[in-house]
Amino acid sequence: MSSISPIAWADRAIRILDQTRLPDDEVYLDLATVEQVVEAIRALRVRGAPLIGITAAMGLAVVAQRQAERMELTAEWLAGVADTLEASRPTAVDLHWALDRMRRLAGEKFAGPQSGLDVSGALRDEAQRIWNIEIGMCRSIGEHGARLIEPSFTILTHCNTGALATGALGTALAAIYVAHEQGKGIDVVATETRPLRQGARLTAWELGRAGIPTRVIVDGAAASLMAGGEIDMVITGADRIVANGDAANKIGTYQLAVLARAHGIPFYIAAPRSTFDFTLDSGAAIPIEQRTADELPTAPGVQVYNPAFDVTPAEMISGIVTDNGVLLPPLEVAVREYAQG
Ligand code: MRU
Repeated sequence: MSSISPIAWADRAIRILDQTRLPDDEVYLDLATVEQVVEAIRALRVRGAPLIGITAAMGLAVVAQRQAERMELTAEWLAGVADTLEASRPTAVDLHWALDRMRRLAGEKFAGPQSGLDVSGALRDEAQRIWNIEIGMCRSIGEHGARLIEPSFTILTHCNTGALATGALGTALAAIYVAHEQGKGIDVVATETRPLRQGARLTAWELGRAGIPTRVIVDGAAASLMAGGEIDMVITGADRIVANGDAANKIGTYQLAVLARAHGIPFYIAAPRSTFDFTLDSGAAIPIEQRTADELPTAPGVQVYNPAFDVTPAEMISGIVTDNGVLLPPLEVAVREYAQG
């Protein structure tokens, strides 16, 4: 089982494992200002939908404490910091979910006769609660997801959806961890995940530490593996799932879903409640992060299109593994019921 801690509380700071340095170096950074937290999220030093939310919540608590120690902590100041954090990455809705919880809590506390340090202490408790909720949801996802995995399955996954992405067991990788724990004798094919190689660098590192047999493939090798009958199931995470079941995830997820459909292989998404955005009707409304050209080495002067995410339409998804069970098609109906639960 995973023993990786990508985030921790430090002395008036949060300590993160710098994921841009993995797998070569295990370097920890202390973040104490909003600028440092935003930079770490933007640069993908911390990444993965649930972990971005946890980081922003913990970061808000820490900067609030520092502000309260030296001057007045006001609701307006805190709202400005929350807005800055929220703008750090656009696609993962977990960031908004976590900051909305923090804003609600701050609203309640500022309404009472509390000192700035009382408010920042309450924010710290709320950030820890958010983290604890993610830990519980990931464990449940792992247990529900593992039921879909038969003994000796070869499972293809994309990007990194484990401890490094969640500060907990993971989403898609949680199902894999639990199936492994249950002795199902599974093995994993991890796509490299261009351009930032989260699969080759992070998933392979995580699964290697857990002793789960893993092969890394270039993204373009998925089709031939499927055609050769070598893949039993595909499972990935998500950054935002909307009301009709469309799901945004790391660029390349959609093509895996299309390939899985073409080869008759089940394609699952795994995500906690924090990744659902019930306010959007369809995936077309999901903001897709565009990243800079320098992530994609080319000949000088060449234009680059570098979206970080794509949207898999609900009809391509065999099921969504949530903290509350597996949502099955028709996903629009299943997501609506999940929203009410
Ligand atoms: O750009 P990243 O590395 O933050 O992208 C991460 C993913 O796309 C994951 O699949 C997603 O966050 C879900 S996993 C918890």
